[in-house]
Amino acid sequence: MDPKPKPMMFLTVLCLITISSIVVTVEAEYVRPLPRKTLHFPWSRKASSYPQQVHISLAGDNHMRITWTTDDKFAPSVVEYGTSPGRYLSVNQGESTSYDYLFYSSGKIHHTVIGPLEPNTVYFYRCGGQGPGFQFKTPPAQFPITFAVAGDLGQTGWTKSTLDHIDLCKYDLHLLPGDLSYADYVQGKWDTFGELVQPLASARPWMVTQGNHEKEYIPLIKDGFQSYNARWKMPYEESGSSSNLYYSFEVARIHVIMLGSYTDYDKYSDQYTWLKADLLKVDRKKTPWLVVLFHVPWYNSNRAHHGEGDHMMATMEPLLHAASVDIMLAGHVHAYERTKRVNNGISDPCGAVHITIGDGGNREGLAHNYLNPQPEWSEFREASFGHGELRMVNSTHAFWSWHRNDDDEPVRSDQVWITSLASSGCVAEKRHELRKILLAP
Ligand SMILES: *[C@@H]1O[C@H](CO)[C@@H](O)[C@H](O)[C@H]1NC(C)=O
Ligand SMILES: [Fe+2]
Repeated sequence: MDPKPKPMMFLTVLCLITISSIVVTVEAEYVRPLPRKTLHFPWSRKASSYPQQVHISLAGDNHMRITWTTDDKFAPSVVEYGTSPGRYLSVNQGESTSYDYLFYSSGKIHHTVIGPLEPNTVYFYRCGGQGPGFQFKTPPAQFPITFAVAGDLGQTGWTKSTLDHIDLCKYDLHLLPGDLSYADYVQGKWDTFGELVQPLASARPWMVTQGNHEKEYIPLIKDGFQSYNARWKMPYEESGSSSNLYYSFEVARIHVIMLGSYTDYDKYSDQYTWLKADLLKVDRKKTPWLVVLFHVPWYNSNRAHHGEGDHMMATMEPLLHAASVDIMLAGHVHAYERTKRVNNGISDPCGAVHITIGDGGNREGLAHNYLNPQPEWSEFREASFGHGELRMVNSTHAFWSWHRNDDDEPVRSDQVWITSLASSGCVAEKRHELRKILLAP
């Protein structure tokens, strides 16, 4: 009708061109910072029974496990707690362990489960009958709930930056897909890592799974995961598992499965057998969301560790796909990548969203080299330090965002709405297929 374009339209087009060129320029000029040095921890002498390295984790329904270390091997494993500061009306007795590693002897590592606790409630507590009071908040029993997610932490200046960013966001629980301290056989570094994370890990539950840096295996001398298992006890007994290297938990109507990339996962392994039994217990009416974590990513278009997850994926992806897993979170690659819903190497509306979030800040630096062209299933990838936030808004919607350490905490460099497979019909569609796999011998 009107062959001459309106001046308004010209302006809009001009604006768009300008905006997109600004975006392009900003991306091109973004200078990636160098790795930062390992932090040094001044040695401060405290009474030997003083609680150190305090951290907490969920321990079955409405319970919390409090973990801390003392130099004194006679220090009691008791936790006093209550809902007002300094007024500890309840007390629980726990257990303790310790270990030797070459010339190193650990302190006494205390694990005390407390509860039953009310959801979404602040509790005040004290470890071993002395020392400072701490406080934590229990997660809510209902949506919304927010997970902070960061793997491959280590203990460098970048780790500190990641933790400072996480500290500024409102979250309920930390999910860690492996590689915690980067102690790498130097056992004292497990202690400094424990001190570094205490301000956050004593206030919100940290749910972790193991990475390659937790192995610390020495042929003929040391079994793997000795320090990790002693210090980061997760609710494996509470979830019917026989190993601290894989377990599950439920929180606010989400079923979370923590798998082990570094323990047997073939079809006849204990882990696989346990996984089938665990999936059989999942009721998607009760827990519409199903989230899985492990260390080595299955969908990774970075040259670093490319293909390392293939074997585990070949074994477990058919089962997890039949189970309609919504989101799988991994670490290992020191960069960030997010996929579309994907299965068996191609995007699939009933597949899982895979997120690699191994950019917590360890001493090895970032993984910059990507395979090109970017695979069809890969939606966003960038090598920068940062953390993720996964907000489960309700039974159908979740909001994922990625926050770079170079930006202020509220800045989101990547974000996406994820709708649940329970609401899209995938869960119902695959119900029979899943039962067939789960009930097969
Ligand atoms: C879930 O949250 C989304 C996003 O805020 C909203 O659009 C949707 O209506 C909510 N669904 C229910 C059942 O509340
Ligand atoms: Fe790793």
